[in-house]
Amino acid sequence: MRFLVLVLALCLTSAQGHVVQVRDRQKIVGVTETDDWWKTGVFYQIYPRSFMDGDGDGVGDLKGVKAKLKYLKDIGITGAWLSPIFKSPGVDQGYDISDYYTVDAVFGGNAALKKVLWEAKMLGLKIILDFVPNHTSDQNEWFKKSVNGTDGYEDYYVWNEGKVDSNGTRVPPNNWVSIFKGSSWTWNEQRKKFYLHQFATQQPDLNYSNPKVMEAMKKVLTYWLDQGVDGFRVDAVPYIMEDKELRDEPLTPGHKYDQNDVDCVERIYTKDIDETFDVVYAIRTHVDEYAKNKKITTRSVLV
Ligand SMILES: *[C@@H]1O[C@H](CO)[C@@H](O)[C@H](O)[C@H]1NC(C)=O
Ligand SMILES: *[C@@H]1O[C@H](CO)[C@@H](O)[C@H](O)[C@H]1NC(C)=O
Ligand SMILES: *[C@@H]1O[C@H](CO)[C@@H](O)[C@H](O)[C@H]1NC(C)=O
Repeated sequence: MRFLVLVLALCLTSAQGHVVQVRDRQKIVGVTETDDWWKTGVFYQIYPRSFMDGDGDGVGDLKGVKAKLKYLKDIGITGAWLSPIFKSPGVDQGYDISDYYTVDAVFGGNAALKKVLWEAKMLGLKIILDFVPNHTSDQNEWFKKSVNGTDGYEDYYVWNEGKVDSNGTRVPPNNWVSIFKGSSWTWNEQRKKFYLHQFATQQPDLNYSNPKVMEAMKKVLTYWLDQGVDGFRVDAVPYIMEDKELRDEPLTPGHKYDQNDVDCVERIYTKDIDETFDVVYAIRTHVDEYAKNKKITTRSVLV
């Protein structure tokens, strides 16, 4: 158990993302491989938009990816990690997802992914998807419903009424600064509250203290596992959870408070906080359970 915590701690402090498990398809592809392929395998990161254009429209796509899988196999790659391919307005290179169940049309839609997965299986290659749990696009239906206060969605995101300053102006509840500069809080006129976004304004942060959010994300994972995806690379793990008390972050020594200076505060309440482990465990347990229930051989739990 200690080993797992150590591994995760390393990921939290040193990396933006982390490969969580994944199931072993050896029974299906009929090749001999170890159960812990994901620990020792060689992954090739593909940024689909620029990797290979399969339909000649000038933008990379999954048809292009499919055409290159044999090449990846030939050079000794174990699996490919696809950078975000889900539907997205593209404010942050696909890291702002508006629909977790749909592959963006620019990449060829869900049908194109299906073909990639099939081809990969034939070749004995793994395919893992980029999973972006920390926030959605503001165009996501979940956010639209949350803004509207629709029953069951009110607490999907981190909302706060803020406070009133000495001039009677409503201001954000604390000094948190977005990684993309400016306050981490944006006022929403319809909901009459601020919402939290650690990145772009169009990337509202999900509220993982709400069990419904975790359940919704588990459904997303299950859906793609059912489609034949071998696992997930989890994006921006250090930023998943924030301090519930919304405490001000301390100034970085030698800096003065300036929202254009993303290093002006020490991110002790918005990054690498203990509660993040719970989310990582939940994701991991879910995928492990999936593998167990489907009787897919896997030895991915590091205990
Ligand atoms: C918005 O909220 C109202 C009141 O809860 C509800 O009747 C309506 O269906 C919601 N609309 C959407 C699009 O969720
Ligand atoms: C209140 O308004 C005055 C005049 O515009 C301004 O100088 C001051 O900084 C404001 N105070 C706050 C807390 O924003
Ligand atoms: C997150 O969701 C929980 C459970 O629904 C709720 O109690 C809490 O107030 C929400 N937190 C924020 C910051 O919205």
